[in-house]
Amino acid sequence: MQDEVDISHSLLVEKAGKGNRFLGWIDLPLKTDETLISEIETDAKFIREKAEIVIVIGIGGSYLGSRAIIEALISPFSAFRDDTKNPVVIYAGHNLSQDYHAELLQLLDKKEYAIVVVSRSGTTTEPAIAFRLLKNHIEKKYGIEEAARRILAITDSSKGALKSLAVKNGYKIYVIPDGVAGQYSVLTPVGLLPVAIAGYDIRKLISGANEMRKACIETSSLADNPAACYAAIRNSLYRLGSQVEILVNYEPSLHYFTEWWKQLFGESDGKENEGLFPAGADFTTDLHSMGQYIQEGQRMLFETVIHVQKPKHLLSVPLDEADLDGINYLAGKTLHEVNHMAALATTLAHTSGEVPCLDILLPVLDEQSLGEMIYFFEFACGLSGYLTGINPFNQAGVEVYQNNLFALLGKPGFENETEALRERIDEE
Ligand code: PA5
Repeated sequence: MQDEVDISHSLLVEKAGKGNRFLGWIDLPLKTDETLISEIETDAKFIREKAEIVIVIGIGGSYLGSRAIIEALISPFSAFRDDTKNPVVIYAGHNLSQDYHAELLQLLDKKEYAIVVVSRSGTTTEPAIAFRLLKNHIEKKYGIEEAARRILAITDSSKGALKSLAVKNGYKIYVIPDGVAGQYSVLTPVGLLPVAIAGYDIRKLISGANEMRKACIETSSLADNPAACYAAIRNSLYRLGSQVEILVNYEPSLHYFTEWWKQLFGESDGKENEGLFPAGADFTTDLHSMGQYIQEGQRMLFETVIHVQKPKHLLSVPLDEADLDGINYLAGKTLHEVNHMAALATTLAHTSGEVPCLDILLPVLDEQSLGEMIYFFEFACGLSGYLTGINPFNQAGVEVYQNNLFALLGKPGFENETEALRERIDEE
């Protein structure tokens, strides 16, 4: 596919292809300057001193990037550790569950907290409702002036409901740069501010992204550009009949990275009746649920497997004199070795079951490698879209459901749509 990749690569780097108004992400790591980084770090410090809990309100691209990074880096048991000064980051406005939000408000009655509200439009139903609920709560708890200091808004540079509301109430505002679509926004303040508040090094994240940017921009050679290589392989498999790509990890902390990846590829690839369906699996956990299907179900899958090569901790299987569980043959082996063998065993099983497996090797799981992996997938995603011939940078399909919801809930201006939907409901 080298010739095709060459063409798509130059369309991307020369910003001459479909959706080229939304290629701001390509140079983001390079253009994120010291002023912005220091401002984010200063605000993060201020919020970290004030809050035990920080609620990130947003949906889709407005929260998945920060959640992916924070959950990849944080201890799974951080809520129970008292040796950390990091605020706990929790999320709201990514669902419409009454119970979820009611229980969140109950928790916040007893905690010191701050809010980061993220929405380019400010009119997306889920975060708009969550922000209204939390704004009421925080203003009652701290008073209007202190509440305004505890709310940071990340939104459009010039327009939208959240922009107006934030200006009117005097909130600190960060801008989602023009030309960066939601699914590509993780390396803007949308991702950087919550990650800095959680206590992680955004400079290393940006440095990793910059390293990968160089490798991706400089050449389209499949031998030297890892994102081009991945894009070519996944498009080849698609053309050969694969319909589903499963992003697999062997580290539970990567669960939300997969959620971010699903959004990136789902929103970018899935249009004009084209595109691989992006699915995710956490192994070995899901080998005991989805494993049967992957091994023997419909043959339309392939897997992209992320391997973290060096764990942060050392832990071995202990020897047990009685050996009643029969696992003394593993005594002295690290869990990492066992996990690695499980990955090898799975790849051997799945490839013999005609499921192609691609491997991505991540030396360690830290800010630098996450920055590299984020840019790698973003670039590969743009390239993949051009190889398929679609515009990978819009997501008009998301609006169909949102507009139906506006119509069904009676939003002013949607009267015609409401009537049309009511007729459809009656007929169907
Ligand atoms: O990727 C996207 O553009 C979407 O997932 C949006 O991020 C999501 O719909 C939220 O939109 P907004 O930021 O306007 O609230």
